[in-house]
Amino acid sequence: MKLKANTSRIIVALDYADQTAALDMADQLDPGCCRLKVGKELFTREGPRIVEQLIKRDFEVFLDLKYHDIPNTVAKACVAAADLGVWMLNVHASGGKKMMSAAANALSVFGNNKPLLIAVTVLTSMDEQDLTELGIKTSVHDQVLKLAALANESGLDGLVCSAQEALALHQRFPHFSLVTPGIRPKGAALNDQQRIMTPAQAIAAGSNYLVIGRPITAAKEPMQVLAEIQREIEKI
Ligand code: C5P
Repeated sequence: MKLKANTSRIIVALDYADQTAALDMADQLDPGCCRLKVGKELFTREGPRIVEQLIKRDFEVFLDLKYHDIPNTVAKACVAAADLGVWMLNVHASGGKKMMSAAANALSVFGNNKPLLIAVTVLTSMDEQDLTELGIKTSVHDQVLKLAALANESGLDGLVCSAQEALALHQRFPHFSLVTPGIRPKGAALNDQQRIMTPAQAIAAGSNYLVIGRPITAAKEPMQVLAEIQREIEKI
């Protein structure tokens, strides 16, 4: 199923506690057929060397650390991630316009090698009650749209969003890259995900990239599952 580099919409979540397990999975995958996501646990345990190891193996890496701090600190963290050579990274939109603009401006020096900078709006683990507790009196949907607009004004490249939000966000911000977790191929175990969409549904709703973990990483033949998902979304 060899694709030309960079054409896959599938980002495999490498949710492992150590480098050995993460690299063992990476070595079963083809860097021409997917990208990889490194999150807080793996990065905190293994540090930048895990990202370097994956890039050395020709993978494009989404560094999912969701930066949220004062503008100067976030801008410098983004530059550090770009220096590592990551393909995509993210910040919390709730850090505000000054923080997001500082990050986007700091990355502009990387020119064509600039990683994609995307924003998390409202965490999908949060509901309206959680927002109320934070003093936010709008619905989750409205807060997502508000933070998405802020990310757009700040010069970001896209958003992490649920597949349920993708359609509205795609219509409103068609130039954005939408990155969507909570994906389950038909018949796959839900694990702890609740509101899921199939890969085809998510792409049809406007998602550009699908973050998929356990349906691929827990499979006996990860490349086979990846190929099946690829075939499914190619039909859209
Ligand atoms: O194994 P699974 O496909 O559920 O993994 C999904 C990945 O996407 C995990 O790394 C998880 O942390 C991440 N994620 C998510 N839901 C969000 C944001 C991120 O599942 N709203």
